[in-house]
Amino acid sequence: METYLLDWANLLLRWLHVIVAIAWIGSSFYFVFLDSSLTPPEDAQLKKDGVSGELWAVHGGGFYHPVKFAVSPPKLPEHLHWFYWESYSTWLSGFALFLISYLWSPSVYLIDPKVMDWSPAAAIAAALAFLVVFWLLYDAICRTLGQKENGDAKVGALVLVLVCLAAWLATQLFAGRAAFLLMGAMIATAMSANVFFWIIPGQRTVVADIKAGRPVDPVHGQRGKQRSVHNTYFTLPVLFAMLSNHYSFTYTHKYNWLILIGMMFAGAAIRQFFVMRHGYKLGRNPHPWKYAAAGVVALTALIVWLRPAPTVAVAVPESVSYAQLRPVLEQRCVMCHGEALQSKNVRLDSADALKAHAQTVYQQVVVTRLMPMNNATGITEEERAMVAQWFKGGAKVD
Ligand code: HEC
Repeated sequence: METYLLDWANLLLRWLHVIVAIAWIGSSFYFVFLDSSLTPPEDAQLKKDGVSGELWAVHGGGFYHPVKFAVSPPKLPEHLHWFYWESYSTWLSGFALFLISYLWSPSVYLIDPKVMDWSPAAAIAAALAFLVVFWLLYDAICRTLGQKENGDAKVGALVLVLVCLAAWLATQLFAGRAAFLLMGAMIATAMSANVFFWIIPGQRTVVADIKAGRPVDPVHGQRGKQRSVHNTYFTLPVLFAMLSNHYSFTYTHKYNWLILIGMMFAGAAIRQFFVMRHGYKLGRNPHPWKYAAAGVVALTALIVWLRPAPTVAVAVPESVSYAQLRPVLEQRCVMCHGEALQSKNVRLDSADALKAHAQTVYQQVVVTRLMPMNNATGITEEERAMVAQWFKGGAKVD
């Protein structure tokens, strides 16, 4: 029952998480587009009011005309829309999801004894430490170097080194699947913390200053912008990390940390291409094709590098019956799919139950090789081939 209810919690939280993440990343993409597509205002009154840029757009049957004020508008309207629940709800739902899967069942998800054989409590503490320590280090880098000369380049380089180190370390401590997800959670936590600790408080200070008639210090806007720019480059790498659990060939590889870094690099480079395309259209910068090319080269290199080795011929009987398959399932699967535990509401300890799941069993064991989870039970190539043969022979259970 517990596993069943957890599956529901997992489903509902994941649904919510994807919805709010779309809202967050969608508005982030929109504002990056808006900011880099602004042109100086044509209207004299707008210029007089301190407008530094405007955009004309048509969408869904209406015409829109957003304008941006250099530091602050002359006066504040009664209703000012803030953007923060998109970010906070993405973090909260994501953390809850992480909690009920990876932290709730650490021995299934977080720990792979072949990587590091440690206690659930230690693994959980280390996973949480990744989230906190990365934020502290990243924030310290931005605070000490952010506002200095050439600060952006130095911050960028140091953050890159930090992410690479964390990727390597995570794969030395956790099951591959968990390491990838944890890297995504770690960077996404810093993204939300940027909103929570810098972007929103800065905006609150500016709003309070305007209301009190005090001069507005532009540093708040600059700091917020810096963090917001970082968030832009984090988005695609984080999305890869979040989706990677569907692709076991990425995280089960011996050099999985390099694959993760390669994919994240490709994501950030491709994002840079899209960001700079807006400036290119307005004649502000050369065509950013180099960034797209760098991303595509990284992806191509990974595709070539990870190509499957020629399959080793394994001896498998011509047809595999249920009687022959049953001991394999009992040994390799039932510990997580039986009486004691029904992961993802799947039981494999009876003929009927197996019949009901025959197709997904084939997919999970032979095609995607996601099961057994982290190959915790050490299934062999012969046994995978037996599952394939049994399925191709009609998946009979009598
Ligand atoms: C160490 C525990 C463990 C072992 C061993 C294990 N599984 Fe799983 N299995 C899980 C978990 C956890 C999930 C849920 C995965 C997720 O949340 O993505 C799962 C999910 C599944 C699913 C459903 C996938 C889906 O998305 O609908 C199938 C089918 C499955 N396992 C088959 C097997 C088979 C067949 C074996 C043995 C060859 C096996 N499992 C061994 C833990 C395990």
